[in-house]
Amino acid sequence: MIEIREARKQYGDQVAVQTLNLQVNDGEIFGFIGPNGAGKTTTIKMTVGMLRPDAGSIRVNGIDVWQEPLLAKQCIGYVPDNPDVYEKLTGLQFIRFVADAYRVPLALRRQRTEELSAAFAMQDALGDLIESYSHGMRQKIVLIAALVHAPRVWMLDEPLVGLDPKASLVLKTMMREHANQGNTVFFSTHILEVAERLCDRVGIIHRGQLVACGSLDQLRTERSETLESIFMEVTEQ
Ligand SMILES: Nc1ncnc2c1ncn2[C@@H]1O[C@H](COP(=O)(O)OP(=O)(O)O)[C@@H](O)[C@H]1O
Ligand SMILES: [Mg+2]
Repeated sequence: MIEIREARKQYGDQVAVQTLNLQVNDGEIFGFIGPNGAGKTTTIKMTVGMLRPDAGSIRVNGIDVWQEPLLAKQCIGYVPDNPDVYEKLTGLQFIRFVADAYRVPLALRRQRTEELSAAFAMQDALGDLIESYSHGMRQKIVLIAALVHAPRVWMLDEPLVGLDPKASLVLKTMMREHANQGNTVFFSTHILEVAERLCDRVGIIHRGQLVACGSLDQLRTERSETLESIFMEVTEQ
């Protein structure tokens, strides 16, 4: 579960996220959408403990991210918007490095690395340097590393960018299964069709403000037929 209370962030004079209140429950996939520069990445970085909010509080599974950062981060799997990782490591070295940081026992990390790399068809590339990877392969290695400690809360910033159709389907299926097991999945995307089909609830952020939030059924009843038309309506001005 994610509880964002009155969180706010500005860079210099530029307000990136205005007072934001948002709760994502266990068992839910929450889709975060909004125009470029709306504040999605800033919100995600505040929630995973990378960017300190100027005001407000954020709890993940009941733990305050900024008061108990280590404890909170143990339940979070974070995929950043840009898969910039250590290029001079092999994929496997990078996964081990992350698994070390999270103190994942050897047997478990082997099993998870095997399962995840098979799911994303990365087994044959694990021994290669990350600098030789395509964008999609980097995205996959970041995903595998983010999930190797089996976090309950997934925070994924545009995770589908660069993935091939097969990997994209695999990830979407994993997201659904993870939520169905009572966990929380929060992701941002520009692919409205994916948000429409996959999410239990959707939030639209515009100029740092949550301008719409709810289940697709709620939004359709309140506003318009498709997520695309709702998006256009609430981000018009
Ligand atoms: N490090 C930064 N320094 C200054 N301004 C930033 C920085 N990061 C983001 N911003 C600004 O904050 C706003 C929100 O950005 P961001 O959260 O990255 O939006 P999104 O992920 O929705 O595209 C934008 O106006 C962006 O220019
Ligand atoms: Mg972003």
